Amino acid sequence: MTSNQYLTLNNGYKMPLIGLGTWQASGEEVENAIDAALEAGYRHIDTAARYGNESAIGKVLRRWLDAGKVKREELFIVTKLPPTANAPSDVLPVITKSLADLQLDYVDLFLIHTPFSVSTNPDGSIKKDAQGLMVPDLSTNHGATWVEMEKLVANGKVKSIGISNFDEEQIGRLLKTAKIRPATNQIEHHVYLQQRDLINYCKEQGIAVTAYSPLGSRGIAKFNASFGMVRELPDLIEIPEVKEIAAAHGKSPAQVLLRWIIDTGNIAIPKSTNAARLRENLNIFDFKLTEAEVAKLLALDQNLRVCDFTLFHGCEVHPEFRFKNIYNK
Ligand SMILES: NC(=O)c1ccc[n+]([C@@H]2O[C@H](COP(=O)([O-])OP(=O)(O)OC[C@H]3O[C@@H](n4cnc5c(N)ncnc54)[C@H](OP(=O)(O)O)[C@@H]3O)[C@@H](O)[C@H]2O)c1
Repeated sequence: MTSNQYLTLNNGYKMPLIGLGTWQASGEEVENAIDAALEAGYRHIDTAARYGNESAIGKVLRRWLDAGKVKREELFIVTKLPPTANAPSDVLPVITKSLADLQLDYVDLFLIHTPFSVSTNPDGSIKKDAQGLMVPDLSTNHGATWVEMEKLVANGKVKSIGISNFDEEQIGRLLKTAKIRPATNQIEHHVYLQQRDLINYCKEQGIAVTAYSPLGSRGIAKFNASFGMVRELPDLIEIPEVKEIAAAHGKSPAQVLLRWIIDTGNIAIPKSTNAARLRENLNIFDFKLTEAEVAKLLALDQNLRVCDFTLFHGCEVHPEFRFKNIYNK
């Protein structure tokens, strides 16, 4: 890893600028993807208890570590506290299970996955009301949960702690009581949802931004359809301006979308389970966008949220649910 391939966090740890996203990938598919990614040079892997793939990922990590093909300190593994379990008392049991599944002694970054919480039944499944709507858990208290996250840093189970999907107000409130500043805020960020005010605020506060769905979550329409939700979504790699810039550099549209995130000072975690595409997504360190190209891409913003959490139908009434956009008012 060379110095132009990572960002130094507010606690001094170095986070690789490109990580492999793993949402909607499990079992053998994700195992093969992690193998291919490590082979290609990825050292940053983004997962979550909610993705149900930590044990598959753990198997591959263990194989690589045991074979001496990678050292633990070279890896940057991120996981998250799920919306079904973000009460203070959930923090230790959740990280303990994630570490066991990932076969690791520590993770590099542990995030609160969403600022809202959803209630569960005694068996851990999501609680629904008579209409089939998810029941929000209104006891959410970020400050109290954060205290437990901070203890994980003190006892060595995690190197850094952070947040995901938090807005400015939620971050400001958390900072009033936090002893440890969040290292990163992981948010949806791509040319059609730029969230510039939120990103500027994070930077002012010394919080790095990780862009999720950096390619516009190209698989999400199919995923939503499997839950009966049909929504037309644009394909970012077909945007004429993106294609034009890609042609000028002899790169692919996906590489331009990712390079723009890096060139504007952020981290990106594109997901791919295809070996050729995941190699393509990492192969962005041999070119740089011009100022004019960055400006052209900045002008594309449409405030279009792709990952709008409508699957958590019922939780929109939670005061910490902040995913409103043109689709999810
Ligand atoms: N914190 C949160 O709440 C949150 C929410 C959403 C996502 N995330 C994280 O962010 C990661 C990335 O976001 P995402 O999975 O929503 O979407 P994404 O990375 O924007 O897009 C992934 C989709 O694009 C395709 N793809 C990947 N590389 C490509 C390329 N070079 N050319 C063309 N198509 C390509 C993938 O298909 P193939 O696999 O077939 O290549 C997949 O369908 C997730 O996997 C997850 O780790 C976090």
